[in-house]
Amino acid sequence: MLSNRLSSITPSYTISISSKVSEMKLRGIDVINLSIGEPDFNVPNKAKNFGIESLNKNLTKYDMVPGLKILREEICNKLSKENNCIYSPDEIVISSGAKNCITNTLLALLNENDDVLLPKPYWVSYPEMIKLVNANPILIDTKEDNNFKLTKYDLEKYITPKSKLLILNNPSNPTGSVYSKEELIHIVDFCTKNNIYILADEIYEKICFNNKFISVASLNEDAKNITITINGFSKFAAMTGLRLGYSASNKTIAKAISTIQGHLVSHPSLTTQYIGYSALKECSEDINEMVASYKKRRDLICDKLNNIPYINYIYPNGAFYVFINLEKIKEKFNYKKSFSIDFCNEFLNRYHVAVVPGIAFGMDNYIRISFACKEETFLNGLDQLNNFILDLKNSFSKNL
Ligand SMILES: Cc1ncc(COP(=O)(O)O)c(C=O)c1O
Repeated sequence: MLSNRLSSITPSYTISISSKVSEMKLRGIDVINLSIGEPDFNVPNKAKNFGIESLNKNLTKYDMVPGLKILREEICNKLSKENNCIYSPDEIVISSGAKNCITNTLLALLNENDDVLLPKPYWVSYPEMIKLVNANPILIDTKEDNNFKLTKYDLEKYITPKSKLLILNNPSNPTGSVYSKEELIHIVDFCTKNNIYILADEIYEKICFNNKFISVASLNEDAKNITITINGFSKFAAMTGLRLGYSASNKTIAKAISTIQGHLVSHPSLTTQYIGYSALKECSEDINEMVASYKKRRDLICDKLNNIPYINYIYPNGAFYVFINLEKIKEKFNYKKSFSIDFCNEFLNRYHVAVVPGIAFGMDNYIRISFACKEETFLNGLDQLNNFILDLKNSFSKNL
């Protein structure tokens, strides 16, 4: 028999889409995949070479649990220079990807039945991670006319006596919304007054187009004390498969995270850490180029979406996704169980385009498309979305 904790866990929607896409490709079908949350760029060459050199020097033995000292020092430099946050290396723990940092943090902070405040729409893995550590996700409704950004009024409505942690993802996956300094200050004030920690997942921080990115921990000393900042190398340095991320928190929490990591994984791959060190220290030009491409793509994709009827979308100021509202189509769509799943299945089966159903992010009237792919790919995918919607419109008129 498997453990009870698995009974409430939903298998990943994104993984099930990927397997469907692979299966269609095996059948020779040319699928346009706009479901992927992974950069289509490669790891910068300098960074790769630094990793190769480390291997040639046989830097392959066990090392420090919270991560290589030089990498933690470099992360502190980065946090100070780019985010105006002063941390010491013993407040940083490097892990195998941001996912690993988040689960370590949840294990370090939460007791059974603690409540975790989670604004909707949320990144797919948060609720499942919370349930895996036997805590409860408290899902918070946010407002579309505020680009689904959390406010202290939303928090006031949902706080419980057992609320211990808020998860705040900025820039957001799936909406691409980015918080202003004022918006963050209100949230931090609420959390300090109510003794709630903030897990600030800032993994898309560098992919930020319009506003200057503000780190939660940079706001004031209180903010820094209650915040566990999570970041990773998957998105900004295109290092998804290499698995590298880090958390920055106060010393007590960092020590707890490190103790947990010591027993579970020791530390992430040393080669990956050397690659990450060089990516942070020496590859800002490559990174700026990638961000400039995402911005160009964001502009193109929004121009195209503006011409597709019956949809609205959240204008993304960061990350590489667009969250599209299909409410107007839902009224007419003949769906059985979940609108967004049925819509996405039909889109994939008939038009060969893969996108993620909004239900994966807790919002069934939506779909998420990714522009972490070539222009031609997402432009073709949007042509197909337009065709699908026009076909539906024709069938609406027949039903009138
Ligand atoms: C908001 C958010 N946090 C964390 C992660 C996990 O990143 P990593 O590859 O570093 O584990 C992702 C990946 O898609 C993400 O979108």
